[in-house]
Amino acid sequence: MRTPFIAANWKLYKTVHETVVFVKELRSLVKDAGDIEIVVAPPFTAVHAAAEAARNSPIAVAVQDVHWEREGAFTGEISAAMAKEAGAEFAIIGHSERRRLFHETDETVNRKAIAVLGAGLFPIVCVGETLEEREANATLDVLDRQIKTGLDSLTGDQVASLVIAYEPVWAIGTGRNATPQQAGEAHAHIRSRLRAWFGGTAADLCHVIYGGSVKPDNIHELVMLPDVDGALVGGASLDVRAFADIVARSRQSAV
Ligand code: 13P
Repeated sequence: MRTPFIAANWKLYKTVHETVVFVKELRSLVKDAGDIEIVVAPPFTAVHAAAEAARNSPIAVAVQDVHWEREGAFTGEISAAMAKEAGAEFAIIGHSERRRLFHETDETVNRKAIAVLGAGLFPIVCVGETLEEREANATLDVLDRQIKTGLDSLTGDQVASLVIAYEPVWAIGTGRNATPQQAGEAHAHIRSRLRAWFGGTAADLCHVIYGGSVKPDNIHELVMLPDVDGALVGGASLDVRAFADIVARSRQSAV
């Protein structure tokens, strides 16, 4: 049985101060949340402060990206080991905004996944099709390519420890979330590919979460789907009460 996994991706929002206020309030709001993995991904500047504020709580911290090298002349980048030292336990990689705006490819996602695992962090690997790809009936092919190349050379044990976030690009920040049928089909497909390529244990243990306009009022129908293990929340995660509400409603669905 996979525990529900709810993560907040804050993107380019929140200062160090705002992060600490949020995490302290979230701690008290989720103290009875039970068996749920709760993750917040602040900007790099606030990662350490978030980890300190979350110490001895059910909340873990993620970075929103890493570089694949350990060190070197890569101005502006941070390594997975640096993220870990700052207190992160997870690293989001391959977010569609990074693919679209910063030219990330399935190959760089793969290098980052390997680096993140090598540093002892857990990757949250984002996949998902654009609107044009969906309209061209290419969704499942796109997912196959992103997963095959993005997870190339990973072992079954490594895949078992991953989180894969299915985020249809057309659903991000648009208020237009995937229908349960669309999400269910994509998640079941991802799970079947994991089973075929990495084995049954990897497929059973890997968390496959949904992202794209998740709100308190639609989380329930999503996490009720058998292959949806939680959510990666953007806009609604900036408000601590809305995010705590999403956590609470995903738990109601788990029992
Ligand atoms: P929204 O929840 O704002 O649609 O963003 C989703 C997302 O990109 C999470 O990574």
